[in-house]
Amino acid sequence: MSNRPLNVGLVGGGRGAFIVNPHQKAIHFDGTRRVVAGALFPDPKIALQEAAKWPYPIKGYGSYDEMIAANATLPDAEKLDYILIVTPNHVHYDPAMKAMKAGIAVFCEKPLTLTSKESVDLVKTSRKLGVPFAVAHTYVGHWTSRLARYIVRRGLIGDVRWVDSYYIQGWLATKVEDTGSQQASWRVDPKRAGGSGCGGDIGTHALMQLRYVTGLDVTEVSAQLETFVEGRQLDDHFTVYCKLGNGGRALVRASQICIGKKNNLGITVAGTKGTLEWSQEEPESLTILLPGQPDRLYWRGQVAAGDGFLPKDVPADLLAEPTIPSGHPEAFHDAFARLHRCFEDDVRKWKAGKKFVSDGSKYASVEDGWMGLAFLETCLKSGKRKGAWTRMPKSI
Ligand SMILES: NC(=O)c1ccc[n+]([C@@H]2O[C@H](COP(=O)([O-])OP(=O)(O)OC[C@H]3O[C@@H](n4cnc5c(N)ncnc54)[C@H](O)[C@@H]3O)[C@@H](O)[C@H]2O)c1
Repeated sequence: MSNRPLNVGLVGGGRGAFIVNPHQKAIHFDGTRRVVAGALFPDPKIALQEAAKWPYPIKGYGSYDEMIAANATLPDAEKLDYILIVTPNHVHYDPAMKAMKAGIAVFCEKPLTLTSKESVDLVKTSRKLGVPFAVAHTYVGHWTSRLARYIVRRGLIGDVRWVDSYYIQGWLATKVEDTGSQQASWRVDPKRAGGSGCGGDIGTHALMQLRYVTGLDVTEVSAQLETFVEGRQLDDHFTVYCKLGNGGRALVRASQICIGKKNNLGITVAGTKGTLEWSQEEPESLTILLPGQPDRLYWRGQVAAGDGFLPKDVPADLLAEPTIPSGHPEAFHDAFARLHRCFEDDVRKWKAGKKFVSDGSKYASVEDGWMGLAFLETCLKSGKRKGAWTRMPKSI
């Protein structure tokens, strides 16, 4: 394959869609990836109209089936290198499976599927076919999430005793779904969202942040899935007390009914030597609390190895992130761009027949996506038994 930009095809994204926007900006961030095609809407006629209205020229398709089938006969310069799936949750499994079978890599939104059985299928297929697969857990794309991961996994705050990982919003505090909100309507519908509303939508991000930063898995849960807004079928408030693989404890909590809260995702990790705090609404720094010392505030791009807390072995690739100097703020779009950049690296290796490592260290893997669904289903079981401790399945 030449060094032409990677070609990306969109599944979903037409008519007032939300998350396609930051993704498509992030795809174009480096000039090495571009959106070239899209099946943007379930109705084929509207899908083509939406593609014709796209802000830059793309090839429109009436459906993702058509887009994937057409790929087989395109010349190399026009072939899709990966598809980005930005549809509601019930339209993740089918295009992901079909794309992998057609030899196209997959970048899919979270939660990965409606059920863990579907996720297991995707894991097995991606392993069997050796196709790169990313799941869009945005917040692991922040540079500071990567620094947090290094600090905790390197043992710099000691053994992890306790983690509070949370995502608190307020936008579903009233029955927004009855006001014609496209984004709310499918999120409260079990057929399109899955078995958990708030847990699936944002609790999975909190779980991913916990697992990414600490490297620890949840082994048992005691969960409460609650619905505060009358007439809603799914939970809008999700609280899970967790046992961790190392014997530590964690709270994974999410809520969409806390009026005024926007996208308050954050994590506190309390270790035997110190505590780490990070919040995505202020993603340019993280704080380390140590006994008897002033708090340490680490800014993206202002980190030096061997500073009295960070040892000399801070990995060079963490220190040398080629983005803008600190003080020029990075945020949400940059996190998405970092995920697409790292995924591009693996897709290029794969295309060149080289080994790639989709191990969850640079972006969430298909296995991480499965873990999200396994967690939700275990929480649903626990919730039905009034929060009884319930074991998570073993990894696949
Ligand atoms: N990573 C994040 O931070 C983040 C943030 C928001 C949403 N999401 C996830 O992204 C996905 C989309 O969420 P959203 O808020 O953008 O939803 P949305 O309703 O704004 O957009 C969904 C899009 O999918 C299209 N669509 C639906 N069925 C389709 C089909 N069969 N073929 C083609 N297009 C189809 C719709 O027309 C629309 O364009 C969800 O899985 C959601 O959980 C992730």
